Amino acid sequence: MTVRIEVELPGCRYPILIGTGLLGDGAAWRDAIGGVQALLVSDENVAPRYAQRLRDALVRAAGKSVRVDTLVLSAGESHKNLAAAAEVLDALAQLGANRDACVLALGGGVVGDIAGFAAACWMRGIDFVQFPTTLLAMVDASVGGKTGIDHPAGKNLIGAFHQPRAVIADLDALATLPDRELHAGLAEVVKTACIGDVDFFAWLEAHADALRARDQDALGHAIATCCRSKAGVVARDEREAGERALLNFGHTFGHALEAEAGYGTLLHGEAVAIGMVIAARLSARLGMADATDAQRLAGLLQRCGLPVEPPPDLASEALLARMRLDKKNRAGSLRLILWRGVGRAEIAEGVDAAAARAVLT
Ligand code: GLY
Repeated sequence: MTVRIEVELPGCRYPILIGTGLLGDGAAWRDAIGGVQALLVSDENVAPRYAQRLRDALVRAAGKSVRVDTLVLSAGESHKNLAAAAEVLDALAQLGANRDACVLALGGGVVGDIAGFAAACWMRGIDFVQFPTTLLAMVDASVGGKTGIDHPAGKNLIGAFHQPRAVIADLDALATLPDRELHAGLAEVVKTACIGDVDFFAWLEAHADALRARDQDALGHAIATCCRSKAGVVARDEREAGERALLNFGHTFGHALEAEAGYGTLLHGEAVAIGMVIAARLSARLGMADATDAQRLAGLLQRCGLPVEPPPDLASEALLARMRLDKKNRAGSLRLILWRGVGRAEIAEGVDAAAARAVLT
């Protein structure tokens, strides 16, 4: 059964479809693609498995001649840069893409971010459709219109808000996802529970083993819960003026860890897992939450196959310097997402740098 969740924004509405067999079912998503030119952007890991299936499905469902060019990018966060975005723009030029052309982003968060960013830039914005193939992209990255690339100074520092026309999450793609990637996706699932859903947190504690075993019902429920929650947050605060910042629980620490370790060393979800535990420990240190909540979080993340301690060789001062460049900061002071306990995240302004340094070591 396919679950359909609507993201409703002022002047824009799009569906998230979650189910099996969707990559090959062009009829389910053909309406999201308006014109007769499409650029399928994928990466070297995903393209050999799924690109042909998607192309064939589009051509079959289109009922008219659609030109579909394919661009295969190098895989991994270390390639989420200006050069990769330029490759997509060059491919759009090669296609002769008009304003009604569509970019199809087939892959994980990195592919979605690069392809979406290029779609936002080409002719000041053309359509794109997200076909997430990793758990992380299904539950977080593909929903909500954040697109972008990394800069050597930090992660996601260059980008644009550009909503997709649809998000098509085919659960079958998770069958071939490496374990490490599956676990990294579970970090963002846990994050959804951490910020505002204590019942979902308890459900995750009860179903962590089923999720790791790739039980499709459990995965489908977790993905739908995360997408429903995120669709609500994005509808209320598309541009992150307030509530949406909560989705960054663990991310300020995580982004710093990811960049400082060298992109590709820690997966994004792994860095977020460690970052969430650090944020929970800092919350306890600042008297906002009980230390047992941090332990409960670490326990769940470990059961999901995730690391919970920062690599020992990273200097806290270098991590703090990176955190100071975070997009959430205001007027030079540290603004972090902390919590009052499981399910109760909040924005903390002017966090004491010494306290943050203390939990980093
Ligand atoms: N990944 C956080 C957000 O979409 O706001």
